[in-house]
Amino acid sequence: MKIDGMHYRSVTASGQDSITIIDQRWLPFELRFVQLHTLSDVAIAIKDMWTRGAPLIGAVGAYGLCFALRDDTSTTNLEQAYTALLATRPTAINLKWALDAVKNSALPLHGGARISAAFQCAARICDEDVAINEAIGQHGLQLFRQHLDAKPTGSTLNILTHCNAGWLATVDWGTALAPIYMAHDAGLPVHVYVDETRPRNQGASLTAWELQQHGVPFTLIADNTGGHLMQHGLVDLCIVGTDRVTAQGDVCNKIGTYLKALAAKDNNIPFYVALPSPTIDWTVMDGLREIPIEQRSAREITHILGTHTDGTTMEVCITLPQVNTVNYAFDVTPARLVTALITERGIVSPDALREL
Ligand code: MRU
Repeated sequence: MKIDGMHYRSVTASGQDSITIIDQRWLPFELRFVQLHTLSDVAIAIKDMWTRGAPLIGAVGAYGLCFALRDDTSTTNLEQAYTALLATRPTAINLKWALDAVKNSALPLHGGARISAAFQCAARICDEDVAINEAIGQHGLQLFRQHLDAKPTGSTLNILTHCNAGWLATVDWGTALAPIYMAHDAGLPVHVYVDETRPRNQGASLTAWELQQHGVPFTLIADNTGGHLMQHGLVDLCIVGTDRVTAQGDVCNKIGTYLKALAAKDNNIPFYVALPSPTIDWTVMDGLREIPIEQRSAREITHILGTHTDGTTMEVCITLPQVNTVNYAFDVTPARLVTALITERGIVSPDALREL
């Protein structure tokens, strides 16, 4: 990832002392880096969405468990920290996957060896995430080339994405945005329609900012616009990330994804999902019934953050006081609406996931 031309990762560790993350609550208005030193810092940062995106909360959560062990190497403390971190965000499976990896690396050991093994495991999770996303990008790039080749010479490939599945949601590259960055870097003419992604506006605030930093052409659209664009032939393909994919290929992702997949199906537009393999939950089949859907604060719906003309950032209420709300953070797109899954191991149709 590049910010003002400089290379960064979304999480970096300073030995066993701390990690540095971007406090994403302030983007796109301010770029704030923060250091997290303890289990409690990490739990707050994940729960309150300073850091977010399924792969990134896995990586950051892994360090939370490391900090807990650094401060108390007992198994009781390990189990308590594991439970506390797991409860911070229930839907994305990468957090559980990463916590399990750190726990399993530490459990057979004792004392200082336990701490070292945990930190080594967390560092490995971060490095692997980068390598995985790069491979996803390469596979997706080939797919984009095929789509472009099918269009008249000189055409632009118009891609619609929802939420933020870029480098801000991972350690680096992103999942759905990785092929977009690679295509742009390879000189392919790509243009992205970015769903604003109410209620938290991850598209408007994060994806738009990332794409702008990288110089990728994009257009921000209201969430309700995608269907109209698809009906008028203005979208060549959709690509999104995911927080959990079931063994039968159902895709849980940011609320609103399902509606985009329905519109894509109705208009014969391919709907791709990019995912690292730790996002697959082999223990569940039926995404609609078996995945817990996080419900978030009413404030995400009733209030909105923006900048005033004098440059100050402020939150304003956009509805009546004390209005009733319901705020599901994710929905499930059934496998039948998904054209293909793009993983680090290759591209498969959802019903062939097990063959990967
Ligand atoms: O902002 P979040 O953590 O609530 O949303 C999760 C996501 O970032 C998206 O659902 C994303 O598309 C999948 S993670 C690459």
